[in-house]
Parts: sequence; structure tokens; C-alpha cells
Amino acid sequence: MDVDQIVGEQQVIQKLERTGAHSHIRGLGLDDKLEPIQKSEGMVGQNAARKAAGIVVKMIKEGRISGRAILIAGQPGTGKTAIAMGIAKSLSQETPFVSMSASELFSLDISKSESLMQAFRKAISISIKEESDFLEGEVVEIQIDRSADQLTRVGKLTLKSTDMETVYDLGQKMIDNLIKEKVTAGDIITINKSNGVVTKMGRNFTRSQDYDAIGPNTKFIHCPEGEIQKRKIVRHFLNLHEIDVINSRQQGFMALFSGDTGEIKSEDRMKVNAKISEWKDEGKAELHPGVLFIDEAHMLDAECFSFLNRALESEFAPIVIFATNRGITKIRGTTFKSPHGFPPDFLDRLIIIRTIPYSNEDISQILKIRAEEEQVNIHDDAHLILTKMATESSLRYSLQLIITSDILAKKRKSNQVEVQDVKEAYGLFMDSKRSKAFIEQYEKEFNFLLDVSTTTTNGGGGGGQNNQQTLMEGSESSMEI
Ligand SMILES: Nc1ncnc2c1ncn2[C@@H]1O[C@H](COP(=O)(O)OP(=O)(O)OP(=O)(O)O)[C@@H](O)[C@H]1O
Ligand SMILES: [Mg+2]
Repeated sequence: MDVDQIVGEQQVIQKLERTGAHSHIRGLGLDDKLEPIQKSEGMVGQNAARKAAGIVVKMIKEGRISGRAILIAGQPGTGKTAIAMGIAKSLSQETPFVSMSASELFSLDISKSESLMQAFRKAISISIKEESDFLEGEVVEIQIDRSADQLTRVGKLTLKSTDMETVYDLGQKMIDNLIKEKVTAGDIITINKSNGVVTKMGRNFTRSQDYDAIGPNTKFIHCPEGEIQKRKIVRHFLNLHEIDVINSRQQGFMALFSGDTGEIKSEDRMKVNAKISEWKDEGKAELHPGVLFIDEAHMLDAECFSFLNRALESEFAPIVIFATNRGITKIRGTTFKSPHGFPPDFLDRLIIIRTIPYSNEDISQILKIRAEEEQVNIHDDAHLILTKMATESSLRYSLQLIITSDILAKKRKSNQVEVQDVKEAYGLFMDSKRSKAFIEQYEKEFNFLLDVSTTTTNGGGGGGQNNQQTLMEGSESSMEI
């Protein structure tokens, strides 16, 4: 294999990027006054819901309010999950956003209320302030030599600020750290004295002519002023669940890495809460309530709701955002029907954001954004057909056809998706309406349908025909509420 070939292969690997269903969403696309911009940050239309979501973001950012619950409700494919992702992107890095689907609660080997509790605790972080001593200065010289017995290395580092210059003796560990960071004379660095971590801040302005020593990302900054040794406040972020795991004695922090944290005793949690309240009062720690997003919330059952009712009132509660596309449907685990499958008393706690079906223009723009995101070039006529299909079938179906049509276009060596590719993809892949019609037409030949109808009595697993019927009813009635 020659060298060119290897380079070629590497390039191919680097180009492989994954695009998820919501990867085009970079925020809520609102202006300073929280007014939605028709098309911004990957978001299109759905203005009222986006504006409401913007207010929620503001509420979260102010950080004073916790334990509120919000429901995003609307028909399938109207952008509920997309809006939640937009909220996540609008939050600062220190505000945790935990996203889960309600069905996850039923597949874990810990109880539902415990896994909800863990999700609650993951959605709140604290920042702990720590004062550390730092050395900050421009490297004048680094000298590394072998010791007299040739076994160890010894070194000297000269650092300067605008006011002073100091020589430091280097130990083995510091030498390694400096080599690892590729520190050379002219670099401005900080050294954390407590753990020896070296951080390169940039290079001195006066060195901007040293072309051969400059990488593409080099920043040029001024030589630091004042003393070389400084005290700085460093903030560490941890979520409450991490603290719980570290403090639950049988588990230890290693459980964090294995992912198998098991159930955590409520006494352990209470101790953590007491300690955090103490730190908060002393000003050592700051609390950052974040967001817990529970998608497909109609999958929550009566037990989960009663847990949530209480948990939302606790001192350490995040803002919980639910999303569902169900209308009047059974509350899971009961025989009662209720809007969105939520018990009425719980529903009363929520503020509800509605999403409404998209106009043709909105659909057309969403398809365009997605085509760009998936790097597919679509001819205007083919785009029109995809938009029409989205209105007649569903937005999701058209979104799926983008990449499938692109593969068909590439097969006939074209870089642009034409009407014929969309038509072919339409023929190959069915939407739910045609699939349903097909099943109805050939019902008798589908043995598995008969099998399902005779084995529906087990209920609990969430499958089966009875359940499926309620789901269908639910999604239809979601339009009337
Ligand atoms: N306003 C929007 N702007 C840009 N993209 C959107 C918008 N609304 C939806 N989308 C995209 O359309 C697709 C379907 O939307 P989404 O998954 O958010 O629907 P949903 O309301 O959560 O549906 P379901 O009820 O089935 O969960 C996603 O790829 C999403 O990113
Ligand atoms: Mg969704």
C-alpha cells in the first residue's frame, strides 16, 4: 500500500459525520425581546410555542425557580422534541439538561421512583468554589538536563511577568507536564500549584514573527502583569447524583464509570442535601437547578405521577418538561381516561405549551434545512413533491425520503435529487397510511396479526393490539384538545 492510499483512507474517515434527527437545531431562534425569528438557529415557524419556550429558558437562567413542570403537547411531528432540544441549546454549560424517554423507566433494573429520583438529581448541579495558587507568566527559558547519575531528569523554568522574573526548580512530574503541553520559550502559561496542571494561554505578542513556532490555533496575548504567583478561584461542577454515588459507601465513585449505580439509600441523599445546604449558606457552593426533559410522557404510570407530585415540591427539584402527542388516553396502570394520559390533579400543576401543525411554507423550509444538514442537493421540483408528501402523509416521512432519494440519485451518478428519485423512493418505502391500507387488504394472509390478537392478555409490556388501538385513538384525539 503506498502512502497516497493511506492518506486517502484517512480523509474518508474524517469526513464521516453523523447527523441526528435534531442536529440542525442550534437554539430557539429568538431575538433579544424573546420574539421568534421565522427561520433562525435551525428553527422554523411554531412561533407561539417557541416564544413560550423562550420564557421558560429565561426562568431557568434566572435560577431562582425550581420544581415547576411544563408540558409540551401537540400532534406527532410538530416539533415538541425539537423545541426541547432548542431549550437545551439555549442554556449555559453550567445548567444541566437531562433528557430521557418515559419508557426508559420501565426497562431499568431499579425501581421506577428510584430512576426518576436519579434523573431529578442529575438535573441539578452545584458549583464548588476552590481557591488555588497559580503561577502565571511568560516562559523565558526551560532547561532540562540529566542528573549526575543519568537516571533522573532535573530542570529549571524561568517565568516572567511585566514586573518580575523568577527561576523555579522542576521535579520529574512537572518536566513531564511541560513536555506534554509542548511548552517553549515565549509561551504564556499557568501552573496550578496544587496539582501541577499546566495550561497554555497563548504566546507573547512580541513572538508573532517566529513563524516556524506557530500552530494554526495560537493566540497572541500580552505578558501578564504583577506577581507571578496568584490566587485564583476555580469552580468545579458536579451534579447531585454524582455526589450521591460518591457518598453511597457500598458503591464508591467507581460506580460512576461502570454506570451501575444501583439504588441509593434515602439517608445517603439526606446527608448530601444537608451538606450542600451547609455549603450554600457558607457561600462555598452555588446551586444550579437545571432541566429534566421527559419525552413520551404518556408512558408514565400512576406510580410515577404520585412520585413526581411529591418530588416536585422538594427543595432540590429541577424544572421538569414533559412532552406527549397523546390526547384523551388511559392513564397507564389505571382504567381512567384523562387528557394526555396525565391524572387531573397532576395536570393542574402544569403549564402547557401547545404545538400546532405546520403550514406548507414551514414544512418546505424545514425540509430545506434538513437537506442542507444531510448535505443533499435537491432540485426545486423534487423539493415541491417532498413538501406535498409531507402535508399528505407526514413531515417525518418526507424527512426520511431525503436521504433515501439521495442514495438513489447517487446510484445513477447524479449529485442532485430529481423528481424521479423521490418517486422511486416513494415506491420503495411506504408511509404509515399506505402500509395500513396494505395490511387491511391482505389481512388474512398476515398470520402474525392473528397471533398478536390472541396473546394480548399479558398487558404490562405495553405491546399488543388493545394497546395499539388506544394509542391510535389517543393520537387522533390529540387534535381536539
Ligand atoms: N420548528 C421546527 N424547525 C425545524 N425543524 C423542526 C421543527 N419542528 C420539527 N422539526 C424537525 O422535524 C422532525 C420531527 O419533529 P419532532 O421529532 O420534534 O416532533 P415531535 O413533536 O417530537 O413528534 P412526536 O410526537 O412523534 O414525538 C425532527 O427532525 C425535528 O427536528
Ligand atoms: Mg418527540
